[in-house]
Amino acid sequence: MIAPWQITRAADRLRRGGVVAFPTETVYGLGANAFDRNAIAKVFQLKGRPRFDPLIVHVEDVDRVPQLVGCFSEQAQRLARAFWPGSLSIVLPKHRRVPDLVTAGLPTVAVRVPDHDLARQLIEQAATAIAAPSANRFGSISPTTADHVQAEFGERIDLVLDGGPCHRGVESTVISLVDQPTLLRPGGIEVEAIEQVVGPLAIAGLSNDSRSLPSPGMLRRHYAPRTPMRLVDVIDLGLRQRPELRVGLLLFVPRRDQDLDGFSAVEVLSSRGDLAEAAANLFAALRRLDAASLDSIIAERVPDQGLGRAINDRLMRGSMV
Ligand code: TXA
Ligand code: MG
Repeated sequence: MIAPWQITRAADRLRRGGVVAFPTETVYGLGANAFDRNAIAKVFQLKGRPRFDPLIVHVEDVDRVPQLVGCFSEQAQRLARAFWPGSLSIVLPKHRRVPDLVTAGLPTVAVRVPDHDLARQLIEQAATAIAAPSANRFGSISPTTADHVQAEFGERIDLVLDGGPCHRGVESTVISLVDQPTLLRPGGIEVEAIEQVVGPLAIAGLSNDSRSLPSPGMLRRHYAPRTPMRLVDVIDLGLRQRPELRVGLLLFVPRRDQDLDGFSAVEVLSSRGDLAEAAANLFAALRRLDAASLDSIIAERVPDQGLGRAINDRLMRGSMV
């Protein structure tokens, strides 16, 4: 449990230009005052993140959004009412006071209200909006526990608030409302639910060329373990031919033990075939497999609906070479 003084101390660090890692319901964020250019520069530097990749700005209450955006449209307000606090980031025209560094020079800004008491208390006490990417080195697996954050940064960040494991486990869904409503990244809020509020979403294309991306963070290879990973529709367990290799499996649901003989590590995302449970376990399972000295990982696609879209998206990006 986090004591109130720990939140106060972390908020104080943020106000003084520090960088603080904190839990949200999706993944841990690496936070800094969104209006402090030096603090934001530190976030980019710590992450090793290219400057063309903009940050999401977090607020504790929807009332703060007009300070960040040029126009908080009726449509955006409808989405906010439906899903905030929650795992949805909305891209809108930015207010000129938001530093260009935060938005990577784009005329737009992504905003969200996290569904996590500790995160909202921290932002409220810091008395400013908090820009926060996921608290991992650029391109690697997002952290869903304070230990994961430590493993990424060690002593290099001022403070990690430990709020336990993140219950959603995949990053927020990113929607742009700058033109027609467009899905930039599937995530913790299901596309189907968003479409009930704003109608059919356009889907932004995938690309390996950062200059042509509607959302710069949509690089194909991302969220990746260091171990080569292959994503398949169904794992054919009979196919293991080279016994000298250490192969790990990432399964959606359990298989019979005897089928798994010969695999060096096996992770099961959900004991009961539940996508929410699978999402919550995804990144920790990938990290364990990555730490198991394997030659390769074979991951199985999950049903491509609801949260399954976000899980498959991350597995696909993590398995690109
Ligand atoms: O759940 C989350 O979203 C977590 C927690 C900490 O809130 N944050 C997170 O941040 O995943 P990050 O930086 O790892 O991913 C942000 C994504 C990137 O793909 C980025 O390109 C996109 O949001 N993004 C941010 N601002 C944008 C903008 N103005 N226009 C288009 N895409 C934007
Ligand atoms: Mg990230």
